[in-house]
Amino acid sequence: MRLILLGPPGAGKGTQAQRLVDEHGIPQLSTGDMLRSAVAGGTEVGLRAKAVMDAGKLVSDDIVNAIVSERLDQPDCQAGFILDGFPRTLVQADATEKMLASKNMALSCVLELRVDDDVLVDRIGGRYTCANCGAGYHDENLKPATEGVCDKCGSTEFNRRPDDNPETVRTRLQAYYKETSPLLGYYYAKGLLKPVDGMAKIDAVTAQIDDVLSSL
Ligand code: AP5
Repeated sequence: MRLILLGPPGAGKGTQAQRLVDEHGIPQLSTGDMLRSAVAGGTEVGLRAKAVMDAGKLVSDDIVNAIVSERLDQPDCQAGFILDGFPRTLVQADATEKMLASKNMALSCVLELRVDDDVLVDRIGGRYTCANCGAGYHDENLKPATEGVCDKCGSTEFNRRPDDNPETVRTRLQAYYKETSPLLGYYYAKGLLKPVDGMAKIDAVTAQIDDVLSSL
């Protein structure tokens, strides 16, 4: 299965991607995570990306296209993958089509998570992740079973993202509507777009996605 998760910041792409990884055993390819790891590692890509990400703007197409193409060549992507946060411009979508064709890979579908803007701001404001394994949580919507302890790895250290502040979230939403929302028409025209009600509770969104995938 080769999936794209499309939706605005905070729509639940990462949350649902983690569940798809657990359920289907295919990797999550999050360009946001890859770029954050490059920033943390102080690599050349990280140094170029940091200020852009902190401002809530999009990193250049060349950089993200290159890191995704390289990642798709890893053996764990041969059985399938979940692209989370990529592509997010028409240039990236065209590059995706070319890179997948050159690797003899075809997309299964593009899952569009639909969520209202005011809900997105609340979701992003309450988000935090395990500092050890990256599992995602929310202050109200998705708490660990034992407060302060990660369900997956038992760590007691958590992080909040520097770009999850109200001002940057507004810039990220603008970038989504300007640069990424045109991809909805792009994939609709190819018969690949599958809308999902991302306003539903997390388990209900997962159930909708399961229904879509079993109908493919
Ligand atoms: P990225 O890391 O991709 O961030 P994003 O797209 O803004 O998406 P988020 O990670 O904020 O949200 P999400 O949809 O994954 O939501 P989540 O599941 O966490 O990108 C960051 C930056 O990197 C970009 O701004 C850009 O600078 C750069 N970048 C990345 N990719 C790029 C690319 N391709 N091109 C150029 N630049 C790129 O959920 C949010 C919260 O809500 C969580 O706490 C969760 O628990 C909760 N939640 C989830 N679902 C529900 C639900 N159904 N009900 C209630 N709560 C829910």
